[in-house]
Amino acid sequence: MTMDQNICREQGPGGDEDAPPFPFPRASLVWELPPEFRRMRDRAPVARVTLPGGVPAWLATGHAEVRAVLVDPRFSRAAAARSPGAGVAPNEVFNRSLPGLDDPEHGRLRGLAVRAFTARRVESLRPAILAGIDGLLDRVEELPRPVDLVERLCRPLPVLMICELLGVPPEDREGFASWTYAATASAESVAAMAEGYERLLGYFRDLIGRKRREPGDDLVSALIAARDRDDRLSDDELLGLCAVVLAAGYETTTALFALSVVALLHDRSRWESLREDPERIPAAVEELLRMVPVTEIGGPFPRVALEDVELGGVLIRAGEIVMPVADAANRDPRVFPDPERLDLARRPNPHIALGAGIHRCLGAALTRLEMNLGLRRLVERFPGLRLGVPEAQLRLRPRSVLHTPEVLPVTW
Ligand code: HEM
Repeated sequence: MTMDQNICREQGPGGDEDAPPFPFPRASLVWELPPEFRRMRDRAPVARVTLPGGVPAWLATGHAEVRAVLVDPRFSRAAAARSPGAGVAPNEVFNRSLPGLDDPEHGRLRGLAVRAFTARRVESLRPAILAGIDGLLDRVEELPRPVDLVERLCRPLPVLMICELLGVPPEDREGFASWTYAATASAESVAAMAEGYERLLGYFRDLIGRKRREPGDDLVSALIAARDRDDRLSDDELLGLCAVVLAAGYETTTALFALSVVALLHDRSRWESLREDPERIPAAVEELLRMVPVTEIGGPFPRVALEDVELGGVLIRAGEIVMPVADAANRDPRVFPDPERLDLARRPNPHIALGAGIHRCLGAALTRLEMNLGLRRLVERFPGLRLGVPEAQLRLRPRSVLHTPEVLPVTW
């Protein structure tokens, strides 16, 4: 179909049979991408889908098109945050902080956050993250096999990392971990989730008060101190940033780590290659980021067009919703040779799993550090690691927008 013919689809996205329901059903194996993403991308890099409630939207699945949506200010996060129809994934925590803003409001808040979230601060967490991983793995070694790696490593590790980052003192961490668990997307009931979230906000308020009185070398203290000439963060903005760091950084990392282990063990030669030479891990982490589907919607949050925009040969009308699917873009054969192959040595690897443009992941360096250290210690300490159940028996947590395996039994 030519571009002109495509643009002639004047009616915009609608509930017709050309617009399949989205999100798509999960793939049969936990670390695989739903095949619909590939099918849609191969037919048209921007095509129609129907969101829950019959809401029409566009799905962008080509690499160039997804990138274009993420970097173009005409595709607005703020408008999406106000649009009830676009509420397929982000919740109030996200919508009320960085991910719910456009420039210039976004730039101001992000500038202040970046001042605190520096590469030096992330790097300074290395010894604590390493010690945390080793402590968790010491316990794994002692337990009767098979051991559930989700419970024993993939879930506690990001909590530990976020506690280190925010400056949650050791004596508070148990409570913090249990409220966090209750408040996340995988919570068992809406009431438990709301209660967990309220307790966390209360805790953050208290923590901010303490850090104001006695600043430490942590993100919350640095955020309190962050100033841009005579501008500084309000209490609400501070609270929102703490909550968004937790919400964006917890279960995403749990899911990525757990699914990465499954993907590596799926073909023993992958695990062996990292075990033989751990220097291969950094490139492997990039490839796992490219290939492992962490979220149901396939990556970044929805956008709403602020004006008519031509994208991938179709006309997106002002007010229409666009879903930029990074997971599909990351397998675009126009950018990645042999895109469905997990090639642990792939270079270059211009994936957009951590976003692009003004909303690109604020925790990218931390995610990479944690994945690198976690996989390294796992292959070094458990070279004979294998699944404790057949892979086909693994299940993702039901009702969750994130792809976290319910349990991941491993043995060695
Ligand atoms: C598996 C791990 C992770 C993945 C795959 C991931 C992915 C992403 C993506 C795709 C975006 C862009 C969203 C958009 O454009 O709509 C994003 C934004 C963000 N991420 Fe991450 N992330 C991860 C871990 C983390 C961690 C560990 C933190 C913090 C400790 C974090 C904090 C954030 C924040 C604050 C934003 C919003 C930035 C903004 O709107 O300016 N993320 N992330």
